[in-house]
Amino acid sequence: KLQKAYDKIRDEFTISTEKLKDLTDRFEFEMEKGLLMNRGTIPMIPTWVTDYVTGDEKGDFLAIDLGGTNLRVVSVHLKGSSDFDFEHVKYVLPDSVRKCSCEELWDFIGDSLAEFMQNRYKVTVVQKIIPLGFTFSFPATQGRVNEGVLQRWTKGFDIAGVEGHDVVPLLQNAIDKRALPVKVTALINDTTGTLVASLYSDLETKMGLIFGTGVNGAYYEKASSIQKLLGSLPKEIARDGSIPMAINTEYGAFDNDHTCLPRTKYDIQLDEESPRPNQQSYEKMVAGYYMGEVLRLILLDLHQQGLIFRGQDVSKLSSPFIMDTSYPARAEEDDFCDLCQIYNMMKNTVGIQTTLVERELIQELSRLIGRRAARLSACAIAAICKRINCTTGHCACDGSVFHKYPFFKERAQEALDEILSWNTSRLPPIELVAAEDGSGVGAAIVACLAQNKKLKKH
Ligand code: BG6
Ligand code: GLC
Repeated sequence: KLQKAYDKIRDEFTISTEKLKDLTDRFEFEMEKGLLMNRGTIPMIPTWVTDYVTGDEKGDFLAIDLGGTNLRVVSVHLKGSSDFDFEHVKYVLPDSVRKCSCEELWDFIGDSLAEFMQNRYKVTVVQKIIPLGFTFSFPATQGRVNEGVLQRWTKGFDIAGVEGHDVVPLLQNAIDKRALPVKVTALINDTTGTLVASLYSDLETKMGLIFGTGVNGAYYEKASSIQKLLGSLPKEIARDGSIPMAINTEYGAFDNDHTCLPRTKYDIQLDEESPRPNQQSYEKMVAGYYMGEVLRLILLDLHQQGLIFRGQDVSKLSSPFIMDTSYPARAEEDDFCDLCQIYNMMKNTVGIQTTLVERELIQELSRLIGRRAARLSACAIAAICKRINCTTGHCACDGSVFHKYPFFKERAQEALDEILSWNTSRLPPIELVAAEDGSGVGAAIVACLAQNKKLKKH
């Protein structure tokens, strides 16, 4: 009976090349729709970053990076020769911050920035106002580069009083309250940050991608192809077909209308129990915030069917999100013949004593979840490649899943090659490359681009 239940799950979690290709086509179609009007499932947010980075950008900037596992405060020195120095401090985002009050959120950020500046500059009074780029990794509508109206929280964040508001003045207010000599001059998404920072030192970069707590991608579109902006683009941009604009796709929202992703009953349950049901459908199947939860839901279901953990107390396993994505990651990595790492992991954190058969099952289920996430992730990348007609180049990838989840990169690259029908015996023409901690640097570069533009105008 257990074998039969496992076979069913395996079939549902296995995504064929044909299905990947179909999904890629749907992705492309939705991206096009998102650029035409605001009605597709993929938001395709124009960022007003209308310059390619040249590597010549120079100066000293600060950045705040909110939305991943950590809050980071970064100080960046752009040297102007495709090179930079940066210093950063990570403040682990306590789980409580995801659901705190609006005041607590901005106080947490303001205090972290104040502490960083005190340590970095030693004196509290700095003569010059320092420009700051804000990496805000949520869907935020931008009418200009220093604005970001939060459309909705994602990744389990649920803080009242921020959705529908421009977060730039909210951050500036927290800064002013602490009398810090800092002005927020740009807001960007982490994907735009990764794109821009990678381009600063690697001109082969075609897109910036995050595979972490959430998933998303950014790339440069021809500004004149963004139909939904046509009324609002400055004339010189609308007329000049060569001016680019970075698009924060927010592709985690793909298939929010549930028409094509092969969702299992576990994905449906996870969605229904989340703070924002029917949002981020694609993200909920592939991102780090959710992979451990999918494993937990499967194990609980098999237990409830009387197939595993017989006679064990599953009260801990019944608490939502008790298993983060490090669980399937560690389970996949356990290469001891008795799978003792899985034994310890289950015993120490959810209080369950497993048999060898159960541990083998946990490892196989983790492989299914990890492989599905990586393979589905490739559809979005392939769709962007097709959209911009790109046949060679680098996709800059950041996020804990990309860097830490076993075999994620290899599986995603393999699926990308399948979708684009390449023979992988040579170096793949479109290569996934690691970009670590770049989005703060990207925010600084965009703050610099914004400053240069302002100077040019005057
Ligand atoms: C970091 C970037 O390296 O990766 C952040 O600086 C980004 O901007 C983060 O949000 C994404 O990864 P994770 O796993 O922390 O969500
Ligand atoms: C979520 C956010 C998006 C972000 C991504 C990766 O999808 O909505 O803005 O880029 O996570 O952090």
